[in-house]
Amino acid sequence: MKQVTVLAPAKINLALDVTGVRQDGYHTLDMIMQAVNLYEVITLRKGVGVKLKCNVPYVPCNEKNTAHKAARLFFEYAKIDGGVDITIEKHVPVKAGMAGGSADAAGVLVGLNMLYGTGLSVEQLCELGIKIGADVPFAIKGGTARVKGIGEEITPLKPFLYYYITVVMPSAGISTPAAFKRYDELGTDIRPDCDKLQKAIESYNLEDMCKEVKNSLQFSSAAKDTDAICKALNENGALASMMTGSGAAVFGIYSSQEKALQAKNILSKTYEQTFCLEPISGGVKFKSL
Ligand code: C5P
Repeated sequence: MKQVTVLAPAKINLALDVTGVRQDGYHTLDMIMQAVNLYEVITLRKGVGVKLKCNVPYVPCNEKNTAHKAARLFFEYAKIDGGVDITIEKHVPVKAGMAGGSADAAGVLVGLNMLYGTGLSVEQLCELGIKIGADVPFAIKGGTARVKGIGEEITPLKPFLYYYITVVMPSAGISTPAAFKRYDELGTDIRPDCDKLQKAIESYNLEDMCKEVKNSLQFSSAAKDTDAICKALNENGALASMMTGSGAAVFGIYSSQEKALQAKNILSKTYEQTFCLEPISGGVKFKSL
């Protein structure tokens, strides 16, 4: 095999609670995460060294890129003297809280495992992934999950896929470390009850699920447009609306595709990047030829 193409999905947080701070400064979290049908398309070809290309100019293609880090870590861990040419077609907005960078790393790990026939387990790939970014293990596994620690403790839930999501990305993104730093300074009163939310998801109760869609970082993220976008999504029929991750993207939950599309069409007059999405089961998958 000389080449593989993988699709690596973005995520939204249905809930995010900050439960503590580790000695290394990372925050421990309690989250419900949901993979959505917005994919990074990553093609990997056997090559010499690690080379990276991306279809957008604002993503640096150097050693700091999560995809580059993932490839280096993979070869080192698998003890393979290999190389790869990586091409990323980006679809997930950056600094959005949708784990686009983590999806790129996840796609490279899963893709290289196939390309080189290494046979590493999903758990081994997740162990590598957490060294690159907190959201990489979830990006590998996807679906619907309760996620704790900094992102390494993943309990898959039965996927609940019967709703629609309109995502709005404002023009300015949010840096994750800056959002957590502001959280440390400001704290929050917003505390989702992830047990309640998990129960609602497990009983396919959309109304109860929407009551617990909350994010402890919502106000400390300092994303300027969050309130205005939530208001607009709600006025256009959202059952709940919230910022995802550390921001800056905001999503609304809708009971029908028609309503979600209508909200997307209205919001897209103000915001360039809007998406009408669906929750999905599973994570990184191979693109059929
Ligand atoms: O691991 P990731 O690249 O997503 O995290 C970027 C930065 O965000 C970390 O260096 C840390 O400052 C902050 N962070 C955190 N707690 C988390 C995830 C990220 O403090 N659980």
